[in-house]
Amino acid sequence: MRIARHPVLDFSGIGRRQVTFSFNGKPVAALEGESIAAGLLANDILVFRLSPRLREPRSAFCLRGKCGECLMRVNGQENVRACQTPVVEGMVVESDLGSQD
Ligand code: FES
Repeated sequence: MRIARHPVLDFSGIGRRQVTFSFNGKPVAALEGESIAAGLLANDILVFRLSPRLREPRSAFCLRGKCGECLMRVNGQENVRACQTPVVEGMVVESDLGSQD
């Protein structure tokens, strides 16, 4: 389920080399240069986090850095937009889904 073309997003910086990062402790394979969100969606990971108040499943919505639905903790830094952050080998990505496993 990898997005290959989009009318607004630019994928020209995405390479072919595979990198691995972790999402809530599980390894995820992605392409170098694609966003964390794109890597998760390509691996059929559709639920990114739970809403703070009602604990409802949330996923990427805009993929343009506008909505905030993809906020996660990346290498210990809170509130990182997964749709705007390129994956890096060994990156540690966490969300509040970790406590639901
Ligand atoms: S999906 Fe909207 S800000 Fe990331």
